[in-house]
This record gives sequence, structure tokens and C-alpha cells, in this order.
Amino acid sequence: MTKVGLIGLGYWGPNLARVLNQTSRCEFAACADLDAARLEKIARQYPNLKAFRRAEDLLDSDVDAVAIATPIATHYELARKALHHGKHVFVEKPLTDSAARARELVELAKVVDRKLMTGHTFVYSPPVVKVKELIDSGMLGDLQYLSFSRVNLGLYRKDVDVVWDLAVHDVSILLYWLKELPARASSFGRSCVQRAKRDVAYLWFQFASGPIASCEVSWLSPQKMRRTCVVGSKRMVVYDDTNPDERVRVYDRGVLLHRPETFGEFQLTYRTGDMVAPNLANTEPLLIEIEHFLQCIETGETPRTDGRFGADVVTAIEMAAQGRWQPEEQFALPGEVLAARGGE
Ligand SMILES: NC(=O)c1ccc[n+]([C@@H]2O[C@H](COP(=O)([O-])OP(=O)(O)OC[C@H]3O[C@@H](n4cnc5c(N)ncnc54)[C@H](O)[C@@H]3O)[C@@H](O)[C@H]2O)c1
Repeated sequence: MTKVGLIGLGYWGPNLARVLNQTSRCEFAACADLDAARLEKIARQYPNLKAFRRAEDLLDSDVDAVAIATPIATHYELARKALHHGKHVFVEKPLTDSAARARELVELAKVVDRKLMTGHTFVYSPPVVKVKELIDSGMLGDLQYLSFSRVNLGLYRKDVDVVWDLAVHDVSILLYWLKELPARASSFGRSCVQRAKRDVAYLWFQFASGPIASCEVSWLSPQKMRRTCVVGSKRMVVYDDTNPDERVRVYDRGVLLHRPETFGEFQLTYRTGDMVAPNLANTEPLLIEIEHFLQCIETGETPRTDGRFGADVVTAIEMAAQGRWQPEEQFALPGEVLAARGGE
């Protein structure tokens, strides 16, 4: 049975610990965190675990695979070391903080012949998989556009901005559904509370196959919204993760344009057919994801969100970030501009 170690026991790590302990597909054998109090708490909860302060000591142990749930800036170095130690590696999203580093890890995993998987949890969630099935079946027709809203009050991260935290989820869903990197991307955001760390941002993507997409992400919003709308030429879908009874709704709605036979006005007809809410499994996406990782180690198959997929997500985020317009740099008040120029 695969022996797994977990590095990083902060906010998210304990959730991974819970599913690693829950599944019968692995032996949850070790954990590591620089923070002694966090380490002690998990070690008390799972008494059979070997507990290490240093990740390197866990990597020297006999675990076959590691899950990394540390801050984003540490992912590259820890994943690189783990692969060099011959471990299969699961890295929480996003894979790294740069596309170049992500691609390096993908190459390294190939060389050492170990699995590298990114923790894009939403790609394993039943509603996201259902929408993927609807898209792939052709039921929605040609995709016209997709809009994502992921907003609520907090949780503010200290290490990265809202794009590298929340938009990563939407971009992973988008790339999973469309199987394509964007041809163009842009973003626009503002740092309202912390200095130089955007807490609200809008990202736009254009795909060579036709569709366009927008993602609105915010840590500074009064209500929680997790809503995605997919508009196809035949049907439309709303995926609302805050509506437990009807997470996915398929609308038989659309607009038809009739070209006039003779010279005259174009006619539009509006189709407002039925709405169907498909039945969805209630399995926890995180458990499905971890069991998929373990299955890929056992069978040799490629993870759905392998290193390459993780690198594509980072690439798309980087593309959008490069088109960014930071208000701090652009919105100098006229008085400050004059002062900087020596009061001319
Ligand atoms: N999949 C999801 O839905 C989801 C949700 C939240 C967070 N995450 C991801 O999980 C990761 C961790 O996020 P978090 O909110 O738990 O961060 P956090 O800051 O709360 O916790 C990180 C932990 O890692 C430890 N750590 C840091 N460097 C270390 C090292 N070199 N060796 C050992 N331990 C080290 C810290 O002491 C801390 O306890 C991030 O990549 C984040 O994007 C994913």
C-alpha cells in the first residue's frame, strides 16, 4: 500500500490529513510542518503518524508519495526536492508561482518517472464534471461565453493576491471544460485593503475556438457567490455552488435570428423552454481527488490534473496578470504628479 506523507498543516493541510486518513487506498504515515504547535495538534489527532519539523526529514523517510500544502512560494522547491527523493508528488493549487518553474517540475517528473499532480479540487467536484459532460455531449451547442463569479468576505491571504488564490479555481475549471489555453488574456484589479495586493479582480480570456470568458474574484464582497454561467448556441447552464439542491441547472433557452426572405427587418425569436436540474452525487471532491492520485500511482495512468494541467493553469493566470493595470501605479493624484515633477 502506498505510504503517504503530508507537508504543511496550516488552514488547508488538516483537510488533506482527514481524507488521507479516511481512504483505505493508502497508509497516511507521516507529516511535517515548521510550526511545532500545528504539528503537535495533528500528531495528537493521528497518533500513528511520524511527525517532522523539517520537510527534508520527511522526504528522507520511507514514504512513497507526498502531498504539499504549504504557501505557494514554497511549492516549487519542495516539489523539486520530493521528486529528486523519488517520491510521487501531489501539490496544492497553484502548482507554482511561475509558469517556467511549473514546466521545470513537469520535465523533472518525467525524468524521474514519478507522478506529479496538482490539487485543482474543483475539477473533481460532481457539478463541474456534469457540466463537462454536457459540453462534451454537444447538448449546449457551440459555446458562446462563460462568466464566473467567486466573491465573498475574506479569507484574506497574506502571501498572494486574490487572483493567485481564488481565480486559480475558475481558471482550472475553464481549462478543464474547454481543453484549450486562452489565445488572449487580460486582467484588471484593485488593492482596496492591503497595499499592492489585489482583493478584487476581473480576468478576461479569449479562446481560439470561439468562446470568451470572464472571472470576477473578490475577498471584499458582502455576500458569498459561487456562480458560473455557460452560454451555448443550443442551451445554457448555471452552476451555482451555493445552491445545494440545484447546483447545476440546464436551461433550454436561446435566441434565434431569422434572416428575412425579402428586404426587411431581421426577426428574433426567443426560446424559453424547460429548466432541468440533474441529480448529482454528494461525494466530497477532495476525497475523489486524493483517491484519483493514489489510483494513478497504482495503475500508472495520468492524473486528470497532472503537472502539465497545473502548468497550463499557471500560464493562463500569468497571461492575464501580464495584461494587468495596477491602480497604485496609474492613479497618481494630479497634485502628486506635479510634486514629483518639481511643481511645474
Ligand atoms: N484546494 C483548495 O480548495 C485549497 C483551499 C485552500 C488552500 N489551498 C492551497 O493550500 C496551500 C496551503 O494554503 P493554506 O491556506 O493552508 O496556508 P497556511 O499558510 O495556512 O499553511 C501553510 C503551512 O505550511 C507550513 N510550512 C511552510 N513552509 C514549510 C516548509 N518548508 N516545510 C514544512 N512546513 C511548511 C506553515 O508552517 C503552515 O503551517 C496553498 O497552496 C493554497 O493555495 C487549496
